[in-house]
Amino acid sequence: MGKTSKDKRDIYYRRAKEEGWRARSAFKLLQIDQEFSIFNGVTKAVDLCAAPGSWSQVLSRRLNENYENLKQKSEKAPKIIAVDLQAMAPIEGVVQIQGDITNIKTAEQIIAHFGNEHADLVVCDGAPDVTGLHDMDIFIQSQLLLAALKITTQILKPKGTFIAKIFRAKDASLLYSQLKIFFGSVSCAKPRSSRNSSFEAFVVCKDFQMPEGFNPATLDLSTDINKLVGIDRYIAPFVICGDLTQPDSDTTYPLDFEGKEFRYCQPTQSPINPPYQEAMHMMSQVNIGKFPESTSVTLTGKNMSLAEFKATKAKKQDSNDSQK
Ligand SMILES: C[S@@+](CC[C@H](N)C(=O)[O-])C[C@H]1O[C@@H](n2cnc3c(N)ncnc32)[C@H](O)[C@@H]1O
Repeated sequence: MGKTSKDKRDIYYRRAKEEGWRARSAFKLLQIDQEFSIFNGVTKAVDLCAAPGSWSQVLSRRLNENYENLKQKSEKAPKIIAVDLQAMAPIEGVVQIQGDITNIKTAEQIIAHFGNEHADLVVCDGAPDVTGLHDMDIFIQSQLLLAALKITTQILKPKGTFIAKIFRAKDASLLYSQLKIFFGSVSCAKPRSSRNSSFEAFVVCKDFQMPEGFNPATLDLSTDINKLVGIDRYIAPFVICGDLTQPDSDTTYPLDFEGKEFRYCQPTQSPINPPYQEAMHMMSQVNIGKFPESTSVTLTGKNMSLAEFKATKAKKQDSNDSQK
């Protein structure tokens, strides 16, 4: 695979490296902000499922800009907490918790870091490892969103904002209705940097209010959406974010683009301890060149030919570099 092939195919991947973002996802949050002004007045923010950290970079940059503008008025310095199962390279001004967002202890750790105060903004770009089984992937993504919502009800201030990745599929209408229990407004946002070909979108939920006596632990996906009628059934408005001058994520652009000469950039931050590291280590230990391509390889219980193993490794490396 050529060194610049991904740069040709994905303009946001290329731009992320040029502008120092750890992943192209940074543009999704920036484009959501263009439409919904999500950083106004925010001094405490939580990034759930944060690794490798491009959303935390955006939070750090934008909240510190706000702080610089207000500094004369003795405002408190911004506080940002990033949570992920995976380790993440440090980002200045961001406190990291390596933990699981489905665990209530994580909420307690976050509140402790904020000195028992609550956050103004919670974002979640969480995605489980894709299994390839479509229905299963959608179900797991919905469960992750519900876990993010449950933790958010513990850590968000009244009137606060919650943003989370959602797959526009079967459970989406139920999720919008469940989110509307807690928020004054719920929209479904599709940033221009998120591929049209992808199910991915983001719920932008504003004006948090915990309903009296409601137990968020009772939220699940077992409710039949068809039984939700009238005020209980909510259809979220669909909003495209990012203006039309911004590139289309499904288009292949030339390397020399908009009058700028292309210069190859390395990814901003290599991942720490990535899941494919074991395979990379094995590859470096063995001179695989001497084996025929038909050689059978067994990696954590999965059988494949050497050719498939090499292709898998190249694909994983490539997708990790792009971070979607
Ligand atoms: C698409 S990446 C996030 C990219 C990130 N927003 C950025 O801009 O760099 C999804 C992340 O969700 C994390 N994740 C999945 N399930 C999780 C869980 N239960 N608790 C914490 N993190 C989780 C994964 O480890 C992965 O790093």
